[in-house]
Amino acid sequence: MNPTSHKPIVPLPVNAACSSTPLPVRRLTSDALLQKKLSGQPISAITAYDFPTARLVDQAGIDVVLVGDSLGMVVLGYENTLPVTLDEMLHHTKAVARALHRAYLIADMPFGSYHVSTRDSMRNAVRLIKEAGAQAVKIEGGVARAKLVGRLTEAEVPVVGHIGLTPQSVHSMGGYRVQGKSAEAFDRLLADAHAIADAGAVAIVLEGIPRELSAVITAELAIPTIGIGAGSECDGQILVFHDLFNLTASPPAKFVRQYGDAAAFFSEALARYRDDVTARSFPSDAESYHLSREVQSELAAAHPSARKA
Ligand code: KIV
Repeated sequence: MNPTSHKPIVPLPVNAACSSTPLPVRRLTSDALLQKKLSGQPISAITAYDFPTARLVDQAGIDVVLVGDSLGMVVLGYENTLPVTLDEMLHHTKAVARALHRAYLIADMPFGSYHVSTRDSMRNAVRLIKEAGAQAVKIEGGVARAKLVGRLTEAEVPVVGHIGLTPQSVHSMGGYRVQGKSAEAFDRLLADAHAIADAGAVAIVLEGIPRELSAVITAELAIPTIGIGAGSECDGQILVFHDLFNLTASPPAKFVRQYGDAAAFFSEALARYRDDVTARSFPSDAESYHLSREVQSELAAAHPSARKA
């Protein structure tokens, strides 16, 4: 490893391009997200799970970073999000928190961490805020979670709701299916959205629902809606980082737009590295450390086989 890579990283202020004396970068708050909704400015959001990608996301000026429990599938190789533990969420949220200077940080509460008792749920949520540095926790579910959203809000834990296709319900939904397609399901999800907003949530993720439904929810709720597979009428959009860059093994969902092919980029670079090592063309002399001429001369007598620089 190049020893210079241990140098501390100085983050680029987001406003550096617009001013010769950059203003200090301010951390976004839930109120800033609300102001965006009220002024009709779309909210950009993406998931991140580690320090280097979170740093890039922050420097790109993305408004919201979610340490999603999609972590389990795209980073840890689990089949679904259900096995993700609170310890794993804490570990990755801490890494992401260290990288952010501007973006609003939300951490997912993993399956089982808010399903057993209110007391455990509160304790687990507090850990994500207090130990890991999240500004809000996200929990999946509608009417059935409203009471918990209220308790957490009272305890100064900002909550982001998540309704529609909720991946932690994969078994009860019978797979990953678009939700809210019938008139009854439409009404149920609208009631879910209102229950979560009325309980005090600061924002709500709408996943895998018809755009007609997210348009109604977005118009009726006072809090920002952030969509994934929910059409363009939401107040903001979120995608999973690895989906943007072709870094998942599965074919992309209909709603994913790829912005780069990191898999091709990494594969090509890795093959070149392998070939260079195999051909002994890496490292070159310029990529090697050397003895000074004096030390070389000193050692020449004792080690005649020592290579001359
Ligand atoms: O876990 C996650 O990445 C999410 C997003 C899909 C919203 O919940």
